[in-house]
Amino acid sequence: MLFKLFLILVLAAAGVSAVDTAFNDDVLGLIVFKAGLQDPMGKLVTWNEDDETPCNWFGVKCNPKTNRVSELVLDGFSLSGHIGRGLLRLQFLQILSLANNNFTGTINSALSHLGNLQVIDLSDNSLSGPIPEQLFLQCGSIRVLSFARNNLIGNIPQSLTSCFSLELLNFSSNHLSGTLPSGLWYLRELQSLDLSDNLLEGQIPTGIQNLYDLRFVSLHKNRLSGKLPEDIGGCLLLKSLDFSENILSGGLPESMQMLSSCTYLNLRGNFLTGEVPRWIGELKNLDTLDLSANNFSGQLPSSIGNLQFLKKFNVSTNYLTRNLPESMENCNNLLSIDASHNRLTGNLPIWIFKAAMPSVPFSSYRLEENLSSPASFQGLQVLDLSSNIFSGHIPSNVGELGNLQLLNISRNHLVGSIPRSIGELKSAYALDFSDNQLSGSIPAEIGGAISLKELRLEKNFLTGEIPVKIGKCPLLTSLILSHNNLTGSIPAAVANLSNLVDVDLSFNKLSGSLPKELTNLSHLLSFNISHNHLEGELPVGGFFNAISPLSISHNPSLCGAVVNRSCPSVHPKPIVLNPNSSDANGNSPSHNHHHEIILSISSIIAIGAASFILLGVVAVTILNIRARSSQSRSAALVLSVREDFSCSPKTNSDYGKLVMFSGDAEFVVGAQALLNKDCELGRGGFGVVYKTVLRDGYLVAIKKLTVTSLIKSREDFESEVKKLGQIRHHNLVALEGYYWTTSLQLLIYEYVPNGSLYKHLHDRTGDNYCLSWRQRFKIVLGMAKGLAYLHHNNIIHYNLKSTNVLIDSSGKPKVGDYGLAMLLPMLDRCILSSKIQSALGYMAPEFACKTVTITEKCDVYGFGILVLEVVTGKRPVEYMEDDVIVLCDMVRVALDEGTVERCVDERLQLNFRVEEAIPVMKLGLICASQVPSNRPDMNEVVNILELIQSPSEVDEELE
Ligand SMILES: *[C@@H]1O[C@H](CO)[C@@H](O)[C@H](O)[C@H]1NC(C)=O
Ligand SMILES: *[C@@H]1O[C@H](CO)[C@@H](O)[C@H](O)[C@H]1NC(C)=O
Ligand SMILES: *[C@@H]1O[C@H](CO)[C@@H](O)[C@H](O)[C@H]1NC(C)=O
Ligand SMILES: *[C@@H]1O[C@H](CO)[C@@H](O)[C@H](O)[C@H]1NC(C)=O
Repeated sequence: MLFKLFLILVLAAAGVSAVDTAFNDDVLGLIVFKAGLQDPMGKLVTWNEDDETPCNWFGVKCNPKTNRVSELVLDGFSLSGHIGRGLLRLQFLQILSLANNNFTGTINSALSHLGNLQVIDLSDNSLSGPIPEQLFLQCGSIRVLSFARNNLIGNIPQSLTSCFSLELLNFSSNHLSGTLPSGLWYLRELQSLDLSDNLLEGQIPTGIQNLYDLRFVSLHKNRLSGKLPEDIGGCLLLKSLDFSENILSGGLPESMQMLSSCTYLNLRGNFLTGEVPRWIGELKNLDTLDLSANNFSGQLPSSIGNLQFLKKFNVSTNYLTRNLPESMENCNNLLSIDASHNRLTGNLPIWIFKAAMPSVPFSSYRLEENLSSPASFQGLQVLDLSSNIFSGHIPSNVGELGNLQLLNISRNHLVGSIPRSIGELKSAYALDFSDNQLSGSIPAEIGGAISLKELRLEKNFLTGEIPVKIGKCPLLTSLILSHNNLTGSIPAAVANLSNLVDVDLSFNKLSGSLPKELTNLSHLLSFNISHNHLEGELPVGGFFNAISPLSISHNPSLCGAVVNRSCPSVHPKPIVLNPNSSDANGNSPSHNHHHEIILSISSIIAIGAASFILLGVVAVTILNIRARSSQSRSAALVLSVREDFSCSPKTNSDYGKLVMFSGDAEFVVGAQALLNKDCELGRGGFGVVYKTVLRDGYLVAIKKLTVTSLIKSREDFESEVKKLGQIRHHNLVALEGYYWTTSLQLLIYEYVPNGSLYKHLHDRTGDNYCLSWRQRFKIVLGMAKGLAYLHHNNIIHYNLKSTNVLIDSSGKPKVGDYGLAMLLPMLDRCILSSKIQSALGYMAPEFACKTVTITEKCDVYGFGILVLEVVTGKRPVEYMEDDVIVLCDMVRVALDEGTVERCVDERLQLNFRVEEAIPVMKLGLICASQVPSNRPDMNEVVNILELIQSPSEVDEELE
């Protein structure tokens, strides 16, 4: 057998043709053909060279009379290799179909020797090279020729035009170039011509009307130019015409109106111009009309209404004007209407929405009529009217288009609200109403649109909340609601939409905090919530750990690591004392072994989360360490406080540390204070201050630092705080202790009962209360003394403003909040200072960082402003209706004009000493000099003030 095969191969290679004596020619030819192929599926196993005849082989058919092979149909056999010369032996072959295999190599021109061939189908292979000109030298019998979907190059051979029996010619999806052969239209038998998806260029030759059997023609996706063939109307039987995606220009030829059999007309993506002609209504059998992406202009003719079978109507991306013709309501088989990207005007065509049975009074006549022509657009699946100039409302019955899958009416001028019936669009996967002037709220009924994948409502005037029911659209991948006026919070239900990829809620007025569960959204690629009023902590984990800062910007109260702003409270659960450990961190630098320490639970301070903090209650339990040698004021007592994140005891605990600078911190047993909004004293750049009782009746103010993530290391923090704790002056608020964990820092201050200077000056408009001149002078002098003492101890205040100056029960000023910037890393100080010194007007000009180093002189500037504030009773910067008044500028001008005494607080009604007031204001102005070196230092200020003070006042004060 091997020998036989060898013989066959030798014979075949030698081109020996007369071997009839040894073998049937067809067996020989097919075995040779098979020998050159790979047949991974074993489709050709039945091909056995020992057989007398191949007529029973798989894929082979013979003429029963002659017993010679007439058909070879090997479609989809997964064969690969070359189409070998063995086939040339099949002299009586009529049908050769090798479609959908993996044949490679070029097309052998010798195939032309098979004079009986009627069908050659080599489509869907990997054939390459040009189509040989000789292939068609004797092609008179070929009816079907398909080389579609190969990699053929070069021109379409001229010789093809002699294949006068050709009915189907399919060279689509190759790389054929050059022009259409001029004799193409001589192929009078041609019924289907498919040359789509090639690189053909030049004009379409005239004469196509010769092809009066032509049913199908596609020249789609080439580079053909010039006009549409004028005589196309001669192809009266034409059913499908596709000249889309070429560079054809001019108008629609008039002869086209004769194509009344045509069902498919696609001219998309050319440069066709002019109006859509009225005769388009003559193409009565059209089910697809695609004129999109051309240069058509003017108004669509109402004759389109004659196209009763129209299913797909696409005129998008032209320059069409006016409205869609109302007559189109007769085209009630429409499945898709795309008129987007035109210049259409008028109301949204409401006839489209007359989907259901007309709600007219019942009558048999009507009923019959309705039966004969059932509801109009019930079947409509796609409606795209976007990017036009449509006005008016979205009809309330839009939901009756129950089969709608895509509804795009974006970029128009629509007004009114979104109808509730959108919830009935159960098949809709995309709704785009963006960029209109829609108002009202997003109807909760949206939850009924259960197939929704994409919802775009951005750039409208929508108000109200994001409906919780949005959570009922489980397939949603895009939720775009940006640039509206939406309020309320982001519903937690959004976190259930596990397919979300793209969320944009930016530029709204959303508030509240973000649902933690959002981190479950594992497919998110973007989540933009910028430009809202959201607050609280960003969700931690997943997408949110790497969220772009731009996506969350302009939400002043959002906090978390990404925004570089720590959260007001980061303790989800109470902190509970661990009574068994006094030194859990293993380092208690000031643990004094000389002191006999008795541990007992004596006080509980519960720092209740204020209502705006969602994180629950924070409780700090303080162990009283009663040191016997309590005389030592500076003896720091180290206490262990455990933060427990669950209610059950935990083994691995994070221990906090409470340090009181005064040794006699005795707390009332069981004393408890909830630090919540009710006992909030105020809030500033550094944190929120609460009032609470530590000992029996001993009030303290506890400041919870909110810039925790920016605070220095524990060691630096402690050394700075201890330095501040040593500061004792009757014009300074004393720091009594602190509490430290990595996530929570408390500063415990002396409680000053009478409120801030700000309150005394500006917050008393209701009653007739007014600080007297004497009180004011005392305040100015006291502040100066306090600051002088601070500077003497090398501490810069950094944050002077009237809210940071407290007044005690005797009217004595006490400056608070000093030195806190020292707790921040040096590098950040500039940036932070501007944040913390947010109180406009007190900030020294050199605070614009970078060049000048910050010295005590910037406190002097702030003090100067404070002086002017105390004397005039005006804020450093006052916002009037259409004006801004800067206090020091105003006083300076008044001084120049000699009217400075008019600046003194008018509530004093001239009950002040001019001889004190004017020099004090001058001093204030000097302190507030633009140039730091022109400002006196605080010691000098104290001296000057004491000189200004009238002797009588001093006497009075000594009384
Ligand atoms: C064609 O050949 C490639 C590998 O060369 C193979 O992956 C592919 O499945 C083949 N296609 C068919 C239809 O057999
Ligand atoms: C041409 O061949 C391609 C690929 O096989 C096919 O998709 C297309 O329908 C054919 N065209 C005609 C007119 O038969
Ligand atoms: C089509 O319209 C565009 C825009 O008006 C114009 O730039 C282009 O030249 C037009 N093309 C033709 C072929 O008319
Ligand atoms: C939001 O409301 C304000 C007034 O309340 C209005 O000026 C603004 O234009 C609105 N913006 C949007 C996008 O609706």
